[in-house]
Amino acid sequence: MISNAIPLRIAGVGYSVPKTVITNNDLTKLYDTSDEWIYSRTGIKERRMVSGNEDAVSLGIEAAKKALEKSGIKAEDIDMIIVAASAPPQLYPAVGCQIQATLNIPNEIPAFDITAACTGLIYTLTIARGFIASGMYKNILLVATDNNSRLLDWSDRSASILFGDGAGAMVVTASEDGIDDIISIDIRSNGSIGEIIQYNLAGKNCPLVEPNTEKPSFITMNGKEVYRFVARVLPEYVEKLVADAGMKNEDIDYLIPHQANLRIIQAVQERLGYSDEKVVTNIERFGNTSAASIPLALVESVEQGKVKLGSTAILTGFGAGMTWGGAIVRLREGIC
Ligand code: ACO
Repeated sequence: MISNAIPLRIAGVGYSVPKTVITNNDLTKLYDTSDEWIYSRTGIKERRMVSGNEDAVSLGIEAAKKALEKSGIKAEDIDMIIVAASAPPQLYPAVGCQIQATLNIPNEIPAFDITAACTGLIYTLTIARGFIASGMYKNILLVATDNNSRLLDWSDRSASILFGDGAGAMVVTASEDGIDDIISIDIRSNGSIGEIIQYNLAGKNCPLVEPNTEKPSFITMNGKEVYRFVARVLPEYVEKLVADAGMKNEDIDYLIPHQANLRIIQAVQERLGYSDEKVVTNIERFGNTSAASIPLALVESVEQGKVKLGSTAILTGFGAGMTWGGAIVRLREGIC
């Protein structure tokens, strides 16, 4: 961290999910599977899916409105918007620009999207931290939103059982009381194994150059390799994150991990020796909502009384890239 850095306050967090619920039993209408198979391997019972006018942009707007409301910061005072959206309905205009327009956030502030798949929120938080620490920007809106249900091959029963749609948002600002809500933050990637989860945009070369060939345009995932990689890297990574922050496991109140697969979360939990009460999961009801899953798990658990604010939590994500990252944060009263 640079000296004289301005500390960051997490001011508000919100989420939004589509109204349509698809259960494991519903998926048996598409292919040969069962609630028992899916639940026992992933911990998922149901997920939400966009329909009609819902998409990653509309979900992101709803989540952003809630985070702004909780933060007490007015839309017109936002200085920058950063959106983690791995496969939005349109690549441009950026989701950030569309959110800016809809929420009447002043023109001529910067708004942009980044791609870090399910680690997206941790990446945006890291970028925001740099801008706030340097004094360049004060109030930053972060949005993490994905509508994976529109990107899946609905005949691929191995990948399509996992994902759901949703959005999360966080408003961060320069801390006025000198307390930094980011105790520690770290982001990583390993591009050499990027092929294990991919989403290719459809597109055709110019017919003058070569004959057109259709390219598949849906999520492809080698589930076993993803599982192996994350189960190998993540538990040790989170343990080191705590140690490098000079903290002990008893200093941490909650672990709020990306909700990709309950068995991966349990591997991290086992390594850290955390109780069930300390580990936040809601994958059972929402599946894997990519970048949205961490803020969704945080806010929903607060609403359900499972997470108490005025506490300290590890947020950790991993996803396509492969990317991964973690933050140890203070969760102040009133943020959601
Ligand atoms: N229902 C019934 N049977 C199935 C299903 C299904 N939905 N899917 C696969 N099978 C069958 C396969 O056909 C195969 O049968 P076979 O042995 O007769 O060929 C068998 O089950 C095993 O298939 P695998 O694909 O090897 O299943 P695996 O045990 O690896 O489980 C799963 C698949 C659940 C996807 C697992 O690999 C996993 O969870 N991986 C991690 C994925 C993940 O976390 N991804 C997201 C992280 S990154 C991000 O969020 C973008």
